[in-house]
Amino acid sequence: TPDRGDIRDLIESHLHLEGPLLPILHAMMEAYGYVPDEALLDIADALNISRAEVHGVMSFYHDFRTIPAGRHVVKICRAEACKSVGADALAENALAKLGTVWHGTTPNGAVTIEPVYCLGLCANGPAAMVDDRIVAGLDEAKLDAVFKEAGA
Ligand code: FES
Repeated sequence: TPDRGDIRDLIESHLHLEGPLLPILHAMMEAYGYVPDEALLDIADALNISRAEVHGVMSFYHDFRTIPAGRHVVKICRAEACKSVGADALAENALAKLGTVWHGTTPNGAVTIEPVYCLGLCANGPAAMVDDRIVAGLDEAKLDAVFKEAGA
């Protein structure tokens, strides 16, 4: 777990900014891969807002997580064009098989599943992103292979 002093230093270094909350949250993600629970109170204190407000901002944006992600992150497109070719059913089916939920991680810690809203591959959906790699034209078998490769 991140050192409390480091967390405070990181917050401190952004306080001169106008609207420091998002930069602080992004810096936490960069440093730790998630926004540690113990940071929420320090952030709230430093910015003179409530913990609930910090939480509200975090859940409004899809970029922040409060627990570490799995070793791989698979982002499945849930925007219109992919939806229209069955992305949602494909994703729900995969989540059920993997025993997790949106934003959740497989029980073995291998893969975190996140929604994403358009990857620019609308003509070739359903599309997903596996860490930094884009995969398109997904069907059940192809998505299964993605998860298998990622160790899910
Ligand atoms: Fe999925 Fe554009 S809608 S890639």
